[in-house]
Amino acid sequence: MDNGKELLVSKIANGTVIDHINASRSLIVLKILNIRGTEGFRIAIVMNAPSTRMGKKDIVKLENYYPKDEDVQKISLIAQDATINIIKDYKVIKKYKVEIPKKIKGLLRCNNPTCITRKPDEQVTSTFTLINREKIMYQCDYCGSILTENDIIKDLTGEMK
Ligand code: CTP
Ligand code: ZN
Repeated sequence: MDNGKELLVSKIANGTVIDHINASRSLIVLKILNIRGTEGFRIAIVMNAPSTRMGKKDIVKLENYYPKDEDVQKISLIAQDATINIIKDYKVIKKYKVEIPKKIKGLLRCNNPTCITRKPDEQVTSTFTLINREKIMYQCDYCGSILTENDIIKDLTGEMK
């Protein structure tokens, strides 16, 4: 964000900066991480910031918060180009790009109501295989049902009933 002229939001001392989020998706990212602001740590959200690579991008800065592997997997499904920056004493000590998983285990719910993974008695953990990386489409390993990017967003944000 430092373009030499101005710093839009200040740097953080310790925590995580999720950068290069697809423009306007930062609120969805916070929602899937179950971050509401009531946790008490400082959060900065920048939406539609100019980006040379992406045109526009969102950024989320989370003070004293560190994502777990599962959180990073969720972020990858919503924001394919996101970079995770781990900050310690104002320095970026770790930087990596999220990666869309080829297989997803346990995280998503199949949209087929009769799928074995949705039968409470069977205790079968859902697994999905990536079938289209550009469109973000996954296929259930058990029944073959297909989840589109929209299905996944709805599922992760809790809007699928
Ligand atoms: N950042 C921050 N607080 C710090 C250090 C960095 O909020 N103490 C933010 C920066 O503002 C930036 C992101 O973390 O949004 C990554 O920082 P840095 O690697 O220094 O920036 P770039 O080199 O521009 O990152 P990239 O190459 O990933 O675009
Ligand atoms: Zn299924």
